[in-house]
Amino acid sequence: MRLSGARVLITGASSGIGAATAREMARAGARLVLAGRDRRRLDAVAAETGGLALPGDLTTDAAGLASDAGPVDVLVNNAGTGWAGPLARMPGEAIERLVAVNLTAPILLTRLLLPGMVERGGGHLVFVASIAGAVGVRDEAVYSATKAGLIVFAEGLRHELREVRVSVVLPGVVDTPFFERRGTPYARRRPRPVPPERVARAVVSAVERDRAECYVPGWLRVPSRFRGAAPGVFRALSGRFG
Ligand SMILES: NC(=O)c1ccc[n+]([C@@H]2O[C@H](COP(=O)([O-])OP(=O)(O)OC[C@H]3O[C@@H](n4cnc5c(N)ncnc54)[C@H](OP(=O)(O)O)[C@@H]3O)[C@@H](O)[C@H]2O)c1
Repeated sequence: MRLSGARVLITGASSGIGAATAREMARAGARLVLAGRDRRRLDAVAAETGGLALPGDLTTDAAGLASDAGPVDVLVNNAGTGWAGPLARMPGEAIERLVAVNLTAPILLTRLLLPGMVERGGGHLVFVASIAGAVGVRDEAVYSATKAGLIVFAEGLRHELREVRVSVVLPGVVDTPFFERRGTPYARRRPRPVPPERVARAVVSAVERDRAECYVPGWLRVPSRFRGAAPGVFRALSGRFG
């Protein structure tokens, strides 16, 4: 799809990957509708990109966002949140929040905007998932499950839809406030965090080139494929090397 003149709704546009995607989409000539909770940060991104800011909580008002957004050509389901630690210590409300923000909200928003896309004869759905959803990450079982759900949801839709294209973007570690906000900093030396602009370029390229799946960085497709091909060896190696 040509992004020039296309109307693009980005969730989680007030921070990190979403804000970088807004800037990259604006450079490609898209007309932006930007969603997020923090009005001040969202307004700043809107002012910079010429977008329309629609502040709100996705878990309580996906319907309001869909109706205020108007006809949308491209939906970038990017908003998300994390939690890290052993499952036995994870509060029930954190589980509910992760499922609501990372999985239920993008499914509902997609359900609300898809009929318009089909009626207009085309559109593009992008889901910002995570490598965690492809391989499962220790101490992030619920987060991994929400992202795996998103990946398989997208795959199912891809089989179902003809006029509307579907892309999944799977970042590894990205240098955004995500870790600070989940309450547990990223403590490993590798993989090294990539800048959010790199993920933003992958989102734009997924739409422009109709790419079903984009790993960022690209080498992350190797562990994902390896787990699919040899799950036993993958588990043994990840148990040993983390
Ligand atoms: N950073 C990483 O290493 C990494 C790796 C793989 C995948 N991802 C995924 O990339 C996506 C973007 O994350 P990020 O790294 O850019 O994190 P971030 O900087 O924390 O941004 C998260 C965005 O989601 C929005 N959001 C969270 N809860 C919301 C809610 N209830 N309603 C509406 N908006 C909500 C936030 O809005 P407010 O700020 O306005 O509250 C913010 O704009 C997420 O889906 C994340 O899971 C991140």
